[in-house]
Order: sequence, then structure tokens, then C-alpha cells
Amino acid sequence: MPTIPDACVLVIFGASGDLTSRKLIPALYEMDRAGRLPEGTTIIGFSRTPMSDDAWRDVLEPWARKHAKDFDDASWRTFAQRLRYLAGSATEPAAYDDLKSTIAAIDAEKNTDGRVLFYLSVSPSLYEPIVTQIDRAQLVAEGRRWCSIDPTVRSWQRIVVEKPLGHDLVSAQALNRALGQVFDEDAIYRIDHYLGKELVRNVLVLRFANTLFEPLWNHQYIDHVQITAAETVGVGSRADFYDRAGAVRDMIQSHLLQVLALVAMEPPTTHLPHHIRQEKIKLIDAIVPPCVDELEHCASLGQYGADGQEPAYHEQDGVAPNSSTETFAAVKLHFENWRWAGTPFYLRTGKRMAAKRTEVVIQFKPPAVDLFPGIEGLGDSAMSAGNQIIIEIAPHEGVRLRFKGKVPGADLNMDTVTMNVDYEKWFNAQPVEAYGPLIIDAMRGNQTLFKHRYEVEGAWRAVMPFLGPESECLRREMRGNYAPGSWGPASADAMLARDGRAWHNSED
Ligand code: BG6
Repeated sequence: MPTIPDACVLVIFGASGDLTSRKLIPALYEMDRAGRLPEGTTIIGFSRTPMSDDAWRDVLEPWARKHAKDFDDASWRTFAQRLRYLAGSATEPAAYDDLKSTIAAIDAEKNTDGRVLFYLSVSPSLYEPIVTQIDRAQLVAEGRRWCSIDPTVRSWQRIVVEKPLGHDLVSAQALNRALGQVFDEDAIYRIDHYLGKELVRNVLVLRFANTLFEPLWNHQYIDHVQITAAETVGVGSRADFYDRAGAVRDMIQSHLLQVLALVAMEPPTTHLPHHIRQEKIKLIDAIVPPCVDELEHCASLGQYGADGQEPAYHEQDGVAPNSSTETFAAVKLHFENWRWAGTPFYLRTGKRMAAKRTEVVIQFKPPAVDLFPGIEGLGDSAMSAGNQIIIEIAPHEGVRLRFKGKVPGADLNMDTVTMNVDYEKWFNAQPVEAYGPLIIDAMRGNQTLFKHRYEVEGAWRAVMPFLGPESECLRREMRGNYAPGSWGPASADAMLARDGRAWHNSED
């Protein structure tokens, strides 16, 4: 049974924002329904808009009904009792005095013993002002109890920060310094919801709880790795944010490099958080950033065009007409380390693509000797020449193993066969919203699935060549260079074709 954390007060800054209603509250409701949210835990929503507790509950209910698994009215009513609302400006000192007295009142009522989890679901530009105000109001007093009387109980105060952490390496370093002035590193939870996804977490189990795969998990046997996070949706109502970010910042710097780190890191000494994070830091540090003259061979950027239903990206409200923000990015990364030297990792993400698909494809090399010369594998393609492991993260959860088999019959013919483990069927479990288990981990003080500051900074270092002025060559003629419903611009296909490879676009 998973351990249930001690009750705490969870303060969500940005309570009226999209992330809170669409993800955080449905996730917390699911956790409550599963009995994983401790008795007494109270959630304070903090935002500018004046609202009563009940009004906030009413705003959130339809979102939970729509997005949470197994919603029912009775358990929502129970959960809703945990929700309180406090109106205030994130930059106003007086608001934090109110917050402090609200927390103190809950602390006395619910015995939360000074345990507070701050969740910053706001624009990153507000991180520093909020942390400064938290400090000024003396809301952080780790180990000292500031609002109850039993001296034997240790309190804690932790902070969860969303991505993107910064806009580039320099701003990320500055933000990390600002956070570090108020919170110790072990009280800072840099969340990445991809790390909460079942099949991402399963990568560690697949690799390190089996003997079957790990001996082959290196450059000698693996030809290359593809990590794809394709979405069919466009930027929707987030154009304003997105136009300042783009696919590299929004997805590659964070989610895809985290998945990559788990796929490619060395075995950790133990399953303890600091051992796992040490290996991820090392791995991210081993990425060799491409030099300027290689850039056009190592990356492809794109911007979706129009179709009959939606305008092109550059025509959308909130997007600058001459925007050079990419809605598609594919990059090729290399490692300078013993395990992966010579094995490229291709990362790709985009909006308005042909399918919603998040997956990792491990492509093995063909056998050293061809024992069956002249015997064509039926249905062979460049991709299926070697064996493949496909880790399906979304929308389905599963692992597929593809290898050659003899086609029944008198003649010796071969075809590729697939062993498929569908996680939902096998474990008879529906996926839960990834944020839920992550927030519970933050309450339990388990940082395994959260990013250390060095991981974040290393990831910025790795992607800066695709963002800085040198990336100008990739942004020329980018406008409308891929059609909605396609797999991205031709330059992304060309990047792999030059290496004699192809993207895994089929559903096999
Ligand atoms: C978010 C990005 O972090 O992840 C969004 O900001 C993106 O642009 C989303 O749509 C994708 O998440 P998921 O879980 O749907 O793959």
C-alpha cells in the first residue's frame, strides 16, 4: 500500500487559471476518491478574482466532472469541503498577511502542524515576487512551528513550481537562485507532469527490474532512439503564452528531455530520489550541443499552416503576424559517454499533427551477420529491419516488442511479429491524471519524480543552440511549412533520411 502523507495545507497560486481547473483539481479529486489524500488536508485557492469558497467550488465542479476519472456527486461534495478560496494579489504584502492567518486558522482546526505546500500555477514572471512575499510574511520556517504549540512535531514548507522554469539558461539560473534564497533545494519541487505518466515511470521498471533488456541497452545494439510527443490540437487559447515559448521551450526542454533522461541514464545505485536524480543530471550533462554549422542537419523547426477549420498559426489571435515561434520541432541529440557514443536520439514534438501520440521507439541494429540472405522479410521497411521496443505513453499505455518470425508454411519466409502488452487491459486499471501522484509525492517529501536545479539548467544548456540567434537558419521559410494533420515539415523527414532512417509514423 502506498504511504499516505501527513495532512497539510496546499496553497494554489493561480487558482482561477486553466491548469488549476483542468488538471490540478481533477487530479486532487481523483486522489481523494482513491483514499490517498490525508484527512484534514485543505486546499486554499489564491487568486485575484474575488469569490467565495462556494463560488470557487461551483466553478471547479464541471471541470472535475469532465476531466476526472469516475466522477460522482457524493464524493465531489466530500472533496469540495476541502476547498477554500482567498482573493488577493500575488504581489501585495497585505494578501500574504491574510494568507498567513488563513493557514493558521486551518492549522488549528485540522491539525496540519505547520505543513504547507505552496503550488505556483502562475506565469513564471510571478515566481520571484511570490517567493519574496512568502519570505517577507515569514511563511517559511522549516522545522520551526510557526502556528501551533506542540514542539515535538516537525513542520515543513515546500514549494512546487511549474514549467517553464525560465526562458533560457540565464533566466533559469536566476530563478533557481531566487527560489534557493527562501527554500532549500530539498523543499523545491520542480514539477514535470510527464514524470507522473504511468508509462514514463515504467521506463525505470522495464530497464532495471528485468535482465532481458539492460544488457542490450547501449550503442552496440541500439541503432537509434526516437521520442515523439505529437498533438492534434493547436495552441488554442494559449497563443499569448505559446508565442513567447514555442515547441522547444514548451516540450523539448522539459518533458522530452526528462523522458530521454530516464531512457538513457545509467542504472542508479538505489531507487532513492537522490541516486536517480544524480544519474539524470549526469546524462543531461553528457548531451553534446550541436555547433552552428551542424545545426541545419540536427534540427527542423516548423509552423503549421491553415486548413478549412482553423487559421494558420501566424494568423491566430495573440500571435505576432511575423512570429518566428515554432509549433513543431525535431532535434537530433548525441551523447559523449561510454554507453551512447554514436547512437543518436531523435526528439520530435508538434501541434496540429496527424495523431495524438506520445511514444519512445528503441530501434535495435540488425544482426551482425545476415544468415538468411535473399529471404525478404514480408512487409519490411527501413524501420523494421532490426528489432524494436515501442513504449506507448499516450493515448494508449503499453509496450510493444517487434521481432522477426517465420511465416508458417513450407517455404522459409519471414515477417515482423509484435508482442503487445496493453497496460490498461493487463492491469485492469485506467490511467489517472499524472498530477495527482506527483502532488502526493510532494506531500510525502519524495523528490524522485521532480527535477533538480542542475537538470533544469543542463536541459537549457542542451537546447540553447535551437533557440539562440544561431537558430535563425532553421526559422527561415518556416511559416506554414507543414500542413495540419501531417507529421511535420519535409525537413524533419530529410533529417532522418540523411542518416538512412525514417520516423515511426505508422501505428504498427
Ligand atoms: C504542456 C504544454 O506542458 O504539455 C502543452 O505546455 C502541451 O503545450 C501539454 O499541450 C501536453 O501534455 P500531454 O499530457 O497532453 O501530453
